[in-house]
Amino acid sequence: MAMTTPATRPANPRFSSGPCAKPPTFTLDQLADAPLGRSHRAAVGKEKLKSAIETTRDVLGVPADYHIGIVPGSDTGAVEMAMWSLLGARKATMLAWESFGAGWVTDVVKQLKIDAEVKTADYGEIVDLTTVDFDTDVVFTWNGTTSGVRVPNGDAIPADRAGLTICDATSAAFAQELPWDKLDVVTFSWQKALGGEAAHGMLILSPRAVERLESYTPAWPLPKIFRLTKGGKLIDGIFRGETINTPSMLCVEDYLVALDWAKSVGGLEGMIARADANTAVIADFVDTHDWLEFLAAEPAIRSNTSVCLKFADARIQDGAAFAKAVAKRLEAEGVALDIGAYRDAPAGLRIWCGATVETADLEALMPWLEWAFEAEIAAQA
Ligand SMILES: Cc1ncc(COP(=O)(O)O)c(C=O)c1O
Repeated sequence: MAMTTPATRPANPRFSSGPCAKPPTFTLDQLADAPLGRSHRAAVGKEKLKSAIETTRDVLGVPADYHIGIVPGSDTGAVEMAMWSLLGARKATMLAWESFGAGWVTDVVKQLKIDAEVKTADYGEIVDLTTVDFDTDVVFTWNGTTSGVRVPNGDAIPADRAGLTICDATSAAFAQELPWDKLDVVTFSWQKALGGEAAHGMLILSPRAVERLESYTPAWPLPKIFRLTKGGKLIDGIFRGETINTPSMLCVEDYLVALDWAKSVGGLEGMIARADANTAVIADFVDTHDWLEFLAAEPAIRSNTSVCLKFADARIQDGAAFAKAVAKRLEAEGVALDIGAYRDAPAGLRIWCGATVETADLEALMPWLEWAFEAEIAAQA
């Protein structure tokens, strides 16, 4: 096949799965209102932090009786704070279908040493949730960023469960529906579907999670950075923007700008529609090119944010080297940055399709995928 260079390039080649592309309208001067050099405990700082919490509630549709806090350590900080503070009261079930979920298993089994059942699925699949005992505390990742899968819905989670559900939703929030009544802890970072900055995590707690916090004290010591209660009571201030330690007010401003943008494209519904449209561009391309496949074979569990692809062509000699070389070619051309599969995941490509990516840029990228694939097949020969 002749390898003609495609005529059009994506206007923005940023398809990284985190930090993800900033909203298309983003410019640095939008951050001019950040209260730099001011205390986050001054009225102006407190107001910004409170607004970040309440706008999150508004855009994501978080129930009024759920607590929303801004915590240190990005999504990892939020997940670990939840596990260290809540687990141990009853048996745990750890679900993992990619490397971040596997990391939470290590935390619980090797560090906290909790009595836990571990259920795993291969890359591209998820655990059958109907086999999970939700009377245990269940920790899982809603969208598997490194394997391109997602939980399709919360139907398998009983409303009257005795355990807590602790859900790492960092690459799902602002792109997928989250069934709040089925989730007791939800975490995410600003750096994913909103195109915000990392370092701060969002920790969302159901009334049942708060009840656990106030009725159970873990057997292990908790550093200040993880402490959500004082004298057996929830530290309410954390959930009004009185953060445990100092946040970056520049990042907070950036988050507020991103939330405004999310509202401007139709809020959560608009964000989901954009991610779905982006993923459809790739699905159409995969349908018509038999050398490319989704890592997630089953459409119902396929992610609309971190889309993971694998090459399927008998001519490919070394799958990992091939995929890396394709990603490198695309990067060298400046048409796609950071789209190699995650280091622990099967060889292939991972293309972020969250709402901050423009559909036109994915459309422009597809012919380049073909170009890079053919060029690499030829180079191998
Ligand atoms: C599913 C999942 N969990 C956790 C993390 C860690 O997030 P952070 O680096 O924001 O703490 C990531 C990052 O990509 C992720 O995809």
